[in-house]
Amino acid sequence: MIDSTFVGNFVGNFVEPARDTSPAAGFDEGTDEGSRTQTKPCLQLKLTQISNLKSQISNLKSQISNFKFQIPTMIRLRNVSKTFAIGDGLTVVRDVNLDIARTEYVGILGASGSGKSTLLYMMGLLDRPSSGTLHFAGRDVTTLSDDALAELRGRSIGFVFQAFHLIGQLSVLENVELPLFYQHVLGRKRRARAMDCLERVHLANRADHLPAQLSGGECQRTAIARALITEPALILADEPTGNLDSQTGRSILCTFEELHAQGTTLVLITHDPAVAERIPRIVRIADGAIVEETNT
Ligand SMILES: Nc1ncnc2c1ncn2[C@@H]1O[C@H](COP(=O)(O)OP(=O)(O)O)[C@@H](O)[C@H]1O
Ligand SMILES: [Mg+2]
Repeated sequence: MIDSTFVGNFVGNFVEPARDTSPAAGFDEGTDEGSRTQTKPCLQLKLTQISNLKSQISNLKSQISNFKFQIPTMIRLRNVSKTFAIGDGLTVVRDVNLDIARTEYVGILGASGSGKSTLLYMMGLLDRPSSGTLHFAGRDVTTLSDDALAELRGRSIGFVFQAFHLIGQLSVLENVELPLFYQHVLGRKRRARAMDCLERVHLANRADHLPAQLSGGECQRTAIARALITEPALILADEPTGNLDSQTGRSILCTFEELHAQGTTLVLITHDPAVAERIPRIVRIADGAIVEETNT
C-alpha cells in the first residue's frame, strides 16, 4: 500500500522548490564533485532536495506499479465441488477453478440443470463448497462462520434474481431502501441513496409506484437498484432476463453494461446464447464442470 506520510512528504517536497524564485533555482544538476564543494550552501540544499525528490519519485513509481499488482481478484475458486446428500450423493459442481478479477463482467453459460445457480450461490457466500477453496476479495472464506459470511455478503455482494423478489406492499423506493433499513441506516440517508440508485437504473420517475404497477423490465431495474444500494463490490445476477421478453431483456443488459462501464464487478448467469453474446468473458459449464472459456 502507498504510505500516506510518504505521499505527504512527496507533495510537500514537490511544492517547496516552486516557491523559490531565486536565480539558483535553474542550476545544472550534473555539477561534478569538485565544483560542488564550492557550491553556495543554499544551492547545495537545493541539490540535495532535488536528489531526494528524484529518489522519492522513483519510489513512488515502483509503489504504484506494485500496488496495481496487489489488487486481489474478486473471486478465486480452486477445485470447488458441490455434492448434495441425496442417495449416494449428487455432485452438481465438479472441480471448478475460476478467477474473476475486480471490474470484470463474466457470463456463466450452461443448459438448465448444469449447476450454474449452485455455482453462483457459492460465489455469493449463500452456500459452501463440499470441497475446494473459495477466496473473496483476497481473503480465504472457505471456513468462515455463518455469521461472518452473512456479514461479508451483506456488505459486499448484491443479488439480482430471475423472479425479482420485490415486496408487493412496499413502493419502489421502499423496496430499494430495504437493505439499508436492515443495516440501521437512518431514513433520510436511506431515501437519498435509494433515489440515487433509481436514477442509475433510469427509474426515478417510478419511485412511488407499487411493484404491481410496474412492467417486468421496471421490476428488474428496481431489483438492480436494490442490489446497488449497499455499494457492493460484486453483483451476481441469476438469469436476470429469464422472465422478460427479448426487447426488455436487452434493455436490462444495457443497464448491466452501464454498471460494468462504471467499474462494477458483475457475474451473470444465463442459459441463453443471445445474452452470452453480449458479455465480454464467457465461462461455459456442462454437467457441473467448466468446459470452455472465451474472451472477446
Ligand atoms: N439443494 C439441492 N439439493 C439437491 N439437489 C439440488 C439442490 N440444488 C440443486 N440441485 C440439483 O443440482 C442440479 C443443478 O442445479 P442448478 O445449479 O440449479 O442448475 P442450473 O442453475 O444450471 O439450472 C440440478 O439437477 C438440481 O436438481
Ligand atoms: Mg439456475
